[in-house]
Amino acid sequence: MAEEDIDLRAAVNAVSDVVQNRPRPLREFDQIYMKTGDMVMQSEFVARWADGKRLAFIGDGDAISVCVAYLKARGIVPYGPSEIVVYDFDERITNAVARFAEKEGLETLAARLYNCLDAFPGPTDFDCFYTNPPWGASNAGESVKVFVQRGMEATSYGGEGLVVVADDPDLEWPGRVLANLQAAAISSGFFIQRMMPRLHSYHLDDAPDLRSCNLLLKAAPGNQGPEQSLPIRDAERLANFYGRDLCPRVHFVRENIRLDYGKASEGEYSLELLEAEDDRGC
Ligand SMILES: C[S@@+](CC[C@H](N)C(=O)[O-])C[C@H]1O[C@@H](n2cnc3c(N)ncnc32)[C@H](O)[C@@H]1O
Repeated sequence: MAEEDIDLRAAVNAVSDVVQNRPRPLREFDQIYMKTGDMVMQSEFVARWADGKRLAFIGDGDAISVCVAYLKARGIVPYGPSEIVVYDFDERITNAVARFAEKEGLETLAARLYNCLDAFPGPTDFDCFYTNPPWGASNAGESVKVFVQRGMEATSYGGEGLVVVADDPDLEWPGRVLANLQAAAISSGFFIQRMMPRLHSYHLDDAPDLRSCNLLLKAAPGNQGPEQSLPIRDAERLANFYGRDLCPRVHFVRENIRLDYGKASEGEYSLELLEAEDDRGC
């Protein structure tokens, strides 16, 4: 099926179901959600790219993982990964993924609570990984490299990766991050298969025009990485991780109450009643 043959209304409505289920973003951890139209296009692309493969998401507040699994399960796209596991340190996100998967019977989709500063828990036989990490504006891409390292470990340094990072020719830092990321990928035995520039926009109030690109990586034949996954505790790698002076101090974000994200919560409004003497006949 070609991209133009997809029932666009059905695809947008399916992604809308997923968006209704997303926890509200926590800006201090760089949770900044992709706009819905871009999610539709991105999900279709990821479903095609990872067709029949086992795919690990290293962080996924956007919920592209859920869209990909849901579009396939609803028959809106005929392709998609055979298995998807989301690794994220925010329990609201992992629970939202698990609840959606349960409600919609998405047997290929699972989520696991994991902080990427800890050693990767496995399994390490995924075919490919996807990450939309903190973009590293204040650390020259070091935070991107941490998420990408975990993705590479998920494939035992032998698979493919799709990395979503900032891409803006009018700013200096995205170019520096892209250059450092590509150098790090090459030194880990991967090559750059494809770069899809300026694709996605975000609900980002202080930089609404900032776009991101897809950078596709692939392991060179016979590539091998370190035997063991190790925790990352090196202060230099962690400085300015989530932005200037925002170094990681949280292990997990825990879910306190289970909210229905599609509905207003009671605390956010109050009701001012009509006058009692009004005769409304009801
Ligand atoms: C950092 S955000 C990047 C922006 C992206 N558009 C989003 O909001 O999903 C990506 C995901 O990484 C997760 N994340 C942030 N820090 C993490 C960490 N130390 N370990 C694992 N996941 C993390 C966030 O919870 C979020 O779901």
